[in-house]
Amino acid sequence: MKEIVTSRLVLRNFTINDAKYMLEYLSNPRVSCFTSEKLNTIEEAINEAINRRNEDTSIAVCLKGTDRLIGDLFYNYEEPNTYNIGWNFSIEFEGKGYAKESANALLLYLFAEKKARRVYAYVEDDNYRSQRLCEKLGMRKEGCFIEFISFVNYPDGTPKYENTMQYAILEKEWLNIMEKNEIPRNKL
Ligand SMILES: CC(C)(COP(=O)(O)OP(=O)(O)OC[C@H]1O[C@@H](n2cnc3c(N)ncnc32)[C@H](O)[C@@H]1OP(=O)(O)O)[C@@H](O)C(=O)NCCC(=O)NCCS
Repeated sequence: MKEIVTSRLVLRNFTINDAKYMLEYLSNPRVSCFTSEKLNTIEEAINEAINRRNEDTSIAVCLKGTDRLIGDLFYNYEEPNTYNIGWNFSIEFEGKGYAKESANALLLYLFAEKKARRVYAYVEDDNYRSQRLCEKLGMRKEGCFIEFISFVNYPDGTPKYENTMQYAILEKEWLNIMEKNEIPRNKL
């Protein structure tokens, strides 16, 4: 993908140089939905960076100036004009508004460039930070799927099912927010 630059960040494709920083936050995934992405060694991190490098749907979020990776965003297309999105940031860079700044840029990209009509995110019911982020992005809470998915097992081997909330925003809702806040599309 073409680089996206915001006031403090650069959103771009992954490179091998990101492996070290990816290992920092994926060696110990903080939420169970990323358990399967756990990385144990720098070699695994390099392989993961190589896999992601040509994937436009996996976006490296980096600090402007230093180009240091601080987290990632991803999106998946669903026919005919819907996108599922998600995010995972290093705890070191949490609480600075970086996730919101980059996710806003992702919404702009999906609605303006990819012609999305609807964008949604799944968030587990105990992940309050991610729910707050969805709300700050103007996404509506649409519902909660009870025992929707399992990412980990209990010690006895039985699956631990998660209650998963769905948040979404339509293009027309996003345009209304932009207008209300008088945000020109190129100033996000
Ligand atoms: C979910 C996640 C991305 C949220 O990150 P975050 O940093 O809390 O989100 P934001 O970018 O919206 O930052 C908000 C915080 O930055 C603060 N902040 C500081 N400077 C700011 C600025 N310039 N602009 C905006 N907010 C700023 C806000 O006050 C807020 O602080 P608070 O949390 O104390 O209220 C992050 O917790 C994460 O990656 N978690 C692990 C993975 C995960 O759960 N992924 C989602 C699975 S569904």
